[in-house]
Amino acid sequence: MEQLKGLILSGGKGTRLRPITYTSAKQLVPVANKPVLFYGIEAMAKAGIRQIGIIIAPETGDEIRETAGDGSQFGVEITYIPQSAPLGLAHAVLTAEPFLGTDPFVMYLGDNLLQGGIEDLVDNFRSNKPEALILLTQVPDPQNYGVAELAADGSVTRLVEKPAEPATDLALVGVYMFTPRIHEAAKSIQPSPRGELEITDAIQWLVDVGAPVESHVVRGWWKDTGRLADMLEANRLILETVEQKVDGQLIDSQIEGRVIVEPGAVLERSTVRGPAIIGAGARLVDAYVGPYTAVGRHCTIDSSEVEHSILLENSEVRGLDGRMESSLLGRDVKIVRGQSQPRAYRFMVGDSSEIGIL
Ligand code: DAU
Repeated sequence: MEQLKGLILSGGKGTRLRPITYTSAKQLVPVANKPVLFYGIEAMAKAGIRQIGIIIAPETGDEIRETAGDGSQFGVEITYIPQSAPLGLAHAVLTAEPFLGTDPFVMYLGDNLLQGGIEDLVDNFRSNKPEALILLTQVPDPQNYGVAELAADGSVTRLVEKPAEPATDLALVGVYMFTPRIHEAAKSIQPSPRGELEITDAIQWLVDVGAPVESHVVRGWWKDTGRLADMLEANRLILETVEQKVDGQLIDSQIEGRVIVEPGAVLERSTVRGPAIIGAGARLVDAYVGPYTAVGRHCTIDSSEVEHSILLENSEVRGLDGRMESSLLGRDVKIVRGQSQPRAYRFMVGDSSEIGIL
């Protein structure tokens, strides 16, 4: 078979993770201190894919280029493909056609995380040679995804994007394998009611013309990290897999269980209960960091308790009375309790932020 290329979709809008995504691409939000996007690139590299195209949007493309670079850090070669507007997943494929040429490819949504990698999938695609191979998983809320209907032999009969009344609970996972036939399919469909050229419709077109479309139900977990709850869940699942590694400095501090303390981090009179990761150069003073927390580089947690949360770099949490939990802090955020009277709340909060006082 011709060489297999990779296509990662990292354009789009990221509306559901605002305000974080006002200033940063949703594919760069870290899970266990590593951008979501990197997990997709690494999965491709592990499956032997060397040439990867990354779709980028005008607003966030530069940041993605700077972060992922030329791909040498992953042992791959990255080509950036600007998409003028988020006109849909099938539009992204068409935008990438000059890069993809007539090669078969794996398409990976840049905000998706798939445990167990894609090697089995690639093997499957190579041996069965369908025109498309899709991944499915059962979800409790299929109306939020592309939904598949299968025949008794497991072949795909119908695919519908975000149906109001889903016929099954089998959601399309954001990892697909295609032959170049998908370009013809993408050119043959019309925009959906949400105004996008849907990959789901392009695959349905393949089904309709009688092209073989196979499906594979994923065994491990899969997460679309587009929303806060999913992001925290992905962080939890990845942290479950880490091993203890302490490179920072511990002064009168304890760590319990699987905790990573990156170089240059300093813990003073603090306790970290894993699984958790404390980023390089972070400072914890009289702090407690509980399970499923990822503290970004150069963050400070002082006289506070933080659990089941993600803190992006340079954020600061000081003097909180209650435990901060299930939270996502962007970069350079400050949450500080002062000593002055009268006691009051004082906020400077960006658009679309959410503050829960419980
Ligand atoms: O997560 C799985 C779901 O992903 C599937 O079940 C759906 O069938 C599929 O349509 C897709 O749905 P979403 O509505 O969640 O897709 P989203 O708009 O979040 O875009 C997915 C990724 O692709 C994201 O990283 C942004 C990027 N993207 C999106 C669009 C619309 C682009 O690069 N260009 C685009 O035009």
